[in-house]
Amino acid sequence: MTVLPHAPPAPRHAPAAFLRPGQRLAILSALVDEQRGLIDQLQERQRIEHAGRHFWLGRFQGVPVVLTVSRIGKVSASLTAATLIERFAVGAIVFTGVAGALGDGVQVGDVVVAQDFIQHDLDVSPLFARYEVPAYGRARFACDAGLSQALLQAVQHSLAHDFAPARVHQGLIASGDRFVSGQAEVRALRERLQQDGHPALAVEMEGAAVAQVCADHGLPYAAMRTISDRADDSAHRDFAQFVEQVASRYAQAIITRLLDSLGQGPRP
Ligand code: ADE
Repeated sequence: MTVLPHAPPAPRHAPAAFLRPGQRLAILSALVDEQRGLIDQLQERQRIEHAGRHFWLGRFQGVPVVLTVSRIGKVSASLTAATLIERFAVGAIVFTGVAGALGDGVQVGDVVVAQDFIQHDLDVSPLFARYEVPAYGRARFACDAGLSQALLQAVQHSLAHDFAPARVHQGLIASGDRFVSGQAEVRALRERLQQDGHPALAVEMEGAAVAQVCADHGLPYAAMRTISDRADDSAHRDFAQFVEQVASRYAQAIITRLLDSLGQGPRP
C-alpha cells in the first residue's frame, strides 16, 4: 500500500495522449449519486437513451466526454463499458465511485486510486488458480499508468484544497458481486486476499469488470474510489449516508480538476 503526500502544482496532461481524434473520454459510476452535478457542467449537452441507460454527451472543460451510470455489479458494469466503447466512440474510461475499506490505514473519506483490480469472488479452481480469469492467464488487470497518474494528481490536489485531512492511497482494488457488510466477513476477505498475495486496499462491485473490458479493447482505464464505509456491520448505513451526502462532492471536485488538466492540451 502506498500513502502518497500531497503533490506540487498539477502538470497539464494532453487529452490527445489518451484520446484519438473523434474519441470521447467516458466518466463512469455505478450510481447516479456518485456523479451528481457533473452532468450540469456539460457544454453542448445531449442525452441518448440506450439499453435502459442514459448516456450524456458533451464537452467538459473542453474535453469531449460521455457520462453514464452502470448500475451495481460486474455484469452491469461490463455491459456498460462495452456499450461505451462500441457505440459512443470512447477512447478511455475513468471510473469514479465509492468503496469499502480493506487495507490498513485506509479510512472513511480517504480516496483510493486503483493500480490494478482483482475479482475476489472468482474461483475456477482446481481448473485454474483461485482468482485467475480463464483464458487470460492472470488474476489482476492493471490500470493505465499515464491516465492513473493524471487522476492521482487531481485527487491529491482536491484532497489538499477541498477535503483535508483525507488521504490518497494507490494500489490494488478487489471487486465482487457482493456488498461486504460484516466484521467477520471483511476480516476473512482481507486475510484471504493477503495470504494469497493480493493485499487489496478497498472492495467494490464493478472495477475489475471494467478493467477486463478495457484490456480486451486496449483502452486506457483509471479509477478512483472514495471510501464510504469499513465493510463492517454498519457498512450499509455508512454507505447510504456517504453516497447521498458526500460522494458527489468528491467526484465533482476531482473530475473537474482532472478534466481541467487534460483540457489544456491539443483537442481531439
Ligand atoms: N461499495 C461501497 N462499499 C462497499 C462494500 N462494503 N462492499 C462492496 N462494495 C462497496
